[in-house]
Amino acid sequence: EMIRAEAGDLLDWYDVHAREMPWRVGPSARRDGIRPDPYRVWLSEVMLQQTTVAAVRDYFHRFTARWPTVADLAAAADEDVMGEWAGLGYYARARNLLKCARAVVADHGGVFPATREGLLSLPGIGPYTASAISAIAYDLPETVVDGNVERVMARLHDLHVPLPTAKPELTEMAARLTPDARPGDYAQAVMDLGATICTPKSPACGICPWRDPCVARSNGTAPELPKKLPK
Ligand code: ADE
Repeated sequence: EMIRAEAGDLLDWYDVHAREMPWRVGPSARRDGIRPDPYRVWLSEVMLQQTTVAAVRDYFHRFTARWPTVADLAAAADEDVMGEWAGLGYYARARNLLKCARAVVADHGGVFPATREGLLSLPGIGPYTASAISAIAYDLPETVVDGNVERVMARLHDLHVPLPTAKPELTEMAARLTPDARPGDYAQAVMDLGATICTPKSPACGICPWRDPCVARSNGTAPELPKKLPK
């Protein structure tokens, strides 16, 4: 089936070109089926909301050095966590972070729930974060859709319906392409593709693993997608 070939081609690309990030495991560990720690995935995803990967890196290292586990974070003093968060902005995220860590310890024995529904029941974990932890940490076949993924899907299918109207359709497209095997790697592969190849202004279509199936590339419309409704 065509979809399988697309996911497979993207995973092959990811095996070579995955960006190194402190919350990911390296290629050889990945080959051994080792998954990243749910606590680190959760922390990184909360930090990455409205903050770039480059800006998050140092904060992530300081947090995980000081609080290596969710139980350590749950036991931290509020003012210490707020102090380490200083500079990341959106301070409600830091308060929710502590609430969530304490709920994981109080209600789940210090282990992040391994279902999307269980994750959604935690304070500060919404649909995006629940899907990201499910896929990346637990390798559940959940689809993770952020701005990068929306752009990649709009181009792959040459969808000209503007955002935000197109959101449900783009989410559906992303879900149809998600493979049963390695959904966590797949989710991060689409994000990396969007961040490094399928970039907003001048996509590098010539070296894209989805160059052949991409409808926008063959129509020459990639740089103008996704369309956006005027604000
Ligand atoms: N943006 C948010 N989460 C990410 C991840 N796990 N990998 C790459 N970019 C991301």
